[in-house]
Amino acid sequence: MNLDKKLDSLPLTKSNPSTLLSLFGSSEISAMWVADMDFEIDKSIQDSLISRINNSGFAYEYKPESFFNAQKKWYQNQYKLDLNQEQILYSPSITTSIAIILDVFTNEGDGIIIQPPVFMEFREVIRNTKRKIIKNSLVLENGRYKIDFIDLEKKAQEAKNKILILCNPHNPVGRVWSKDELLTLISICKKNNILIISDEIHKDIMLFDHKFESVLQFKDIWDQIIVCTSEAKTFNLCGISDSMVIIPNNNNFNFLKKIFNKYNLGRTNALTRVALETAYENGENWLKDLIRTIQCNVNIVEQELESSKSKIKLIRPEGTYQVWLDFRGVFEDTKEMFSQITLKSGIALNAGHWYGREGALFMRMNIATSTEKVKYAITQIINSIE
Ligand SMILES: Cc1ncc(COP(=O)(O)O)c(C=O)c1O
Repeated sequence: MNLDKKLDSLPLTKSNPSTLLSLFGSSEISAMWVADMDFEIDKSIQDSLISRINNSGFAYEYKPESFFNAQKKWYQNQYKLDLNQEQILYSPSITTSIAIILDVFTNEGDGIIIQPPVFMEFREVIRNTKRKIIKNSLVLENGRYKIDFIDLEKKAQEAKNKILILCNPHNPVGRVWSKDELLTLISICKKNNILIISDEIHKDIMLFDHKFESVLQFKDIWDQIIVCTSEAKTFNLCGISDSMVIIPNNNNFNFLKKIFNKYNLGRTNALTRVALETAYENGENWLKDLIRTIQCNVNIVEQELESSKSKIKLIRPEGTYQVWLDFRGVFEDTKEMFSQITLKSGIALNAGHWYGREGALFMRMNIATSTEKVKYAITQIINSIE
């Protein structure tokens, strides 16, 4: 994978000096936090964008048949999923879609179940829509996170709780939920009439032969599911990508479509359209290279921790390009952990407690960068606690 040498000149969120200063206490710190990559995008996507820009103006566009065909082919080849164009809506971002779904399918004060430690924006969206956060915390057993199904059943049985937001693959702990786990979760949700929002944004980054399973394959068992996804993370397109909502239930689809139309959410951005269509058509080899690099980086982190006999433990990821590091054997206080690691190592990682108190004394490191940088970063982190 080629590193993007021009990144430093761009106004990126992850390296914004004022953001770094306010979050990490220093603007001179190596950014390995926000889930963006340091890699150049696939050459074919870059070429298609350049060619579109060179091609006169930017009048209103629509998504042509070729776009849907490329998207359908990608979903068929990658996940054996048969996408139905009549069940898809587009929106600027996944968090936009989740906020609207909470707004229109639930009432203020209703409970929304999440599985922390989990992507922090879920909490924000629930708070902003004045719904109640209901936690079905994950449990860590022998270095692997699991869903607490007994607790989930209890939470699902409460009449005020209406929706479960599933994160699959799970950010930040890197689990890829298995078919059996999804089936158990679906049977609990079906029995208790819980709508499932499945956030599948990290679906393409499958590591070490793990296989992504979408809840969509179970829509005949329980059709109260809404999948929110995009290829923004997959192809390093977060700055220009939009997102998709897949809604197998007709009534739900029609209901949401009216709201999406009301806010004119599905409008086509010419560059997004070109980038995605090219990614679906040509992105597979680039993605394979990316996965090889990420796997190599996971192994480097593991080897460095082992060879230095560090007390930091790696929760080995099954998917995503993040590693979740366990500092419980080193620190007892989250603030002390955060300031010591951040300021002594010079590496900016996401603090685990940002994902809920279940993440306290953990940190998430973004490893979508060069193997040299990952090796340097983990060495700095190990040395910072000596
Ligand atoms: C699980 C998950 N969902 C959604 C997003 C963000 O998606 P969007 O930018 O489309 O709101 C992220 C970004 O890190 C994420 O990890």
